[in-house]
Amino acid sequence: MKFPYFYQQMLGFLSVIIMLLTISVVSIVLFARNTAIRGTENQLFSYAESIVDVNLEAEQLANFQSLLSNQGVTFFVFNQNGELVFPNLPDHIETRVIPEEEERLRNGERVSLTTQQADLYGNPRETAYVYLPYFSNSAGDYAGFVAVSAPVSQIDRQMSALKRNLFNAFLISTVVAILVSFIFARYQVKRVNELRQAAHLVAEGDYDVRLEHRDRDEIDILSQDFNKMIHALDLSRQEVNRQEERRKTFMQDAAHEMRTPLTTINGLLEGLEYDVIPESQRLRSIQLMRKETKRLIRLVNENLDYENIRSNRIMLNKHTLPVSEILDEIKEQMTTIAESSNNTLQIDSLEGLTVYADYDRFKQILVNLIKNAIQFTENGTIKVSGQKTDKGTRISIQDTGIGMTEEQMKNIWDRYYKADVSRTNTRYGESGLGLSIVQQLAELHQAHLTVESQLNKGTTFAIEFPDSKV
Ligand SMILES: Nc1ncnc2c1ncn2[C@@H]1O[C@H](COP(=O)(O)OP(=O)(O)OP(=O)(O)O)[C@@H](O)[C@H]1O
Ligand SMILES: [Mg+2]
Repeated sequence: MKFPYFYQQMLGFLSVIIMLLTISVVSIVLFARNTAIRGTENQLFSYAESIVDVNLEAEQLANFQSLLSNQGVTFFVFNQNGELVFPNLPDHIETRVIPEEEERLRNGERVSLTTQQADLYGNPRETAYVYLPYFSNSAGDYAGFVAVSAPVSQIDRQMSALKRNLFNAFLISTVVAILVSFIFARYQVKRVNELRQAAHLVAEGDYDVRLEHRDRDEIDILSQDFNKMIHALDLSRQEVNRQEERRKTFMQDAAHEMRTPLTTINGLLEGLEYDVIPESQRLRSIQLMRKETKRLIRLVNENLDYENIRSNRIMLNKHTLPVSEILDEIKEQMTTIAESSNNTLQIDSLEGLTVYADYDRFKQILVNLIKNAIQFTENGTIKVSGQKTDKGTRISIQDTGIGMTEEQMKNIWDRYYKADVSRTNTRYGESGLGLSIVQQLAELHQAHLTVESQLNKGTTFAIEFPDSKV
């Protein structure tokens, strides 16, 4: 760290405070000096007026002179020609009056305080002057002017006391400013450090860190945003973990599903290789291997299908379809299978009922649900019904089979989930992929899929397809 934040803050605060102090001190000094000058000016004018009031009598003027000289004040009286009338000075001393000001005096104007580098005698010292014209008593004509002067050092003496006080005040204020800046800077740096520590903890994997904030300033808003960011990070981390968990389970399940047919095929091939399968059994072995191979192909295809649906890689070609015709086709395929497990497949007359869906995918959904119903029912009835609803078309598949528990119902949508593992490898496949595909397809159609079931009583799957939005 080349220039720590603490020093930056201190510097910032101090420069502002010292600048303000300097401006105030300079203004006060200027104002005080101005006031002092005005005071002196008024005083000198009042002397000048008193001098004019005594009608410029020499004796009185001399009295004044001695009185005022105690205060360092000097005055000269000039006539209308600019000639010195009082005091009587030796010839070699020149008096100093500026011509244009004399002009103003002639016009009856008083000349307010000016400072010069020399006094009335020409001695080099800074002196303040006022000039007051006076007029003849009779005609009121301009008769001359009075020049009153005082050394500027008098004003400066008052000023230097003020400056000393101000300087002390400036020093004390600066010390206080440094202290206050220090406290403020420390406070701000502490808050930034809290943020830094929190970020550090998060970097080390602690997502429970939360910063306190009180809605005061930008740092509070930053803390608030920081908390939101950590929350979002935590959620996405959990999601990543969940995905990773699912990926692992999926890999395990997929491997498990493939191992059974592969082991069967491998065993049979070994038997054929070492000629341990009797001639009469060979054809059956080959048929078994074909069946297992088919099962593997189906597994791979269904997985691919599932992935394609999930990643939106399939396009639905939706139309308004006649439900009863499609169910007739399905019935034809399924009746034999249903009868082989002593089930009756009963399909309501759904003449005129339509559904807005993709033909192949709609059929795939129904085949899967009906196949399941047949698969998990013995000596029962599978009833398919349908009706129009407010929003679309609802199809139900009801069976009187083994049913499911609440717990089982929660999991049936997962890939490879089978409620009863002992039932695997039946003639219907049973890889546990059917319902997960049905669910994805339903989502794709924005269809609402529900299941109701009672153990040993039966199950009803219902799916409601929305009508096309016209
Ligand atoms: N009608 C039903 N009655 C009782 N249980 C059912 C029913 N339908 C599904 N299940 C349960 O849900 C599980 C998952 O069904 P799903 O269709 O996904 O897989 P599967 O039928 O076992 O295999 P696949 O459909 O891939 O051949 C089934 O194994 C079964 O335990
Ligand atoms: Mg199934």
